[in-house]
Amino acid sequence: MSDGTMTKQTGQPIISVKHLKQYFDISDGFLGSRPLKAVDDISFDINEGETLGLVGESGCGKTTAGRSLLQLYKPTAGEIFYRGKKIVTKSDIAEFRKKATMVFQDPYSSLDPRMTVADIIGEPLDVHHMYSSKEERREKILTLMEHVGLNSEHAARYAHEFSGGQRQRVGIARALAVDPDFIVCDEPVSALDVSIQAQVINMFAELQEKMNLTYLFIAHDLLVVRHISDRIAVMYLGHMVELGKAEEVYSKPMHPYTKALISAVPVPDPKVAKANKRIALTGEIPSPLDAPSGCPFRTRCQYATEQCAAEVPEFKEVESGRFCACHRLSEIN
Ligand SMILES: Nc1ncnc2c1ncn2[C@@H]1O[C@H](COP(=O)(O)OP(=O)(O)OP(=O)(O)O)[C@@H](O)[C@H]1O
Ligand code: SF4
Ligand SMILES: [Mg+2]
Repeated sequence: MSDGTMTKQTGQPIISVKHLKQYFDISDGFLGSRPLKAVDDISFDINEGETLGLVGESGCGKTTAGRSLLQLYKPTAGEIFYRGKKIVTKSDIAEFRKKATMVFQDPYSSLDPRMTVADIIGEPLDVHHMYSSKEERREKILTLMEHVGLNSEHAARYAHEFSGGQRQRVGIARALAVDPDFIVCDEPVSALDVSIQAQVINMFAELQEKMNLTYLFIAHDLLVVRHISDRIAVMYLGHMVELGKAEEVYSKPMHPYTKALISAVPVPDPKVAKANKRIALTGEIPSPLDAPSGCPFRTRCQYATEQCAAEVPEFKEVESGRFCACHRLSEIN
């Protein structure tokens, strides 16, 4: 959680993603299959204790990136490192799963409505044999419930009896059961009423502090991510286009796509509003089955040139800690 004055990054990456690709084979009728490039060569680090916000329009590959970095899919290509060690074997993956977990977007479909809250939270404890007696299991479940603001009377009730916010608390307690140090939070508040989104976000921040957690926090809403994130990464059509400190990306976006995303957010601060010339995001996002050549953003970019159609811009460090993929940064900024 960033308060604007303090960053708690240790500089030590807990996760490193190198050239990750996740393609899905899509059947083309009689013609065989074509690859849908959901994630197409992304590289970034997540530092211990930080929240890295991941934003971009629907379908740009955020969930796929989160799932494949957790090895819930077998990546098509690329490498994932956990605390400097490359994850290769089945036993590396099994170990990693105890330390890295996920909170899902929709608490209505991700929890089995016929299970009791205690059994939903206890399931990962069962899978990983994390207790030696029934009493210990019960104690652990009650402690987890307490961490997320549920009380012991909720334990025997069923998920379908709860509100969205309470269900998401159950989902978070379940993710915490294995005592992880890294959590992919996949739009954990976007299915909730606006009135309770802030409560749940604050709970994520408190849990982070208390349990020394690192988050990859996926969201559509740049405003949500801005407040919880230390750094923000922006994805477009399977690619990462910009990454930097949250306040800097927000107040001085460099990539034309980030500029457009930010000018779509209502800005309460008039100074920031004035500094950011409004750029409308026109046209449809292309299909990842039929991505443009060169820069993925070129079909919607007002600055596109021939070079943009011919060459994929490299995602590289353009200022200390700021990464961007664009051929024309110096002319645009
Ligand atoms: N299992 C799958 N099989 C085939 N295609 C998939 C699969 N999962 C995702 N996709 C496709 O990959 C692309 C990226 O999807 P993804 O769900 O990662 O996007 P997202 O950024 O999380 O979108 P949203 O904001 O709507 O959640 C989309 O075109 C989607 O249709
Ligand atoms: S590389 Fe070209 S098309 Fe892509 S964002 Fe930069 S200017 Fe626009
Ligand atoms: Mg998603």
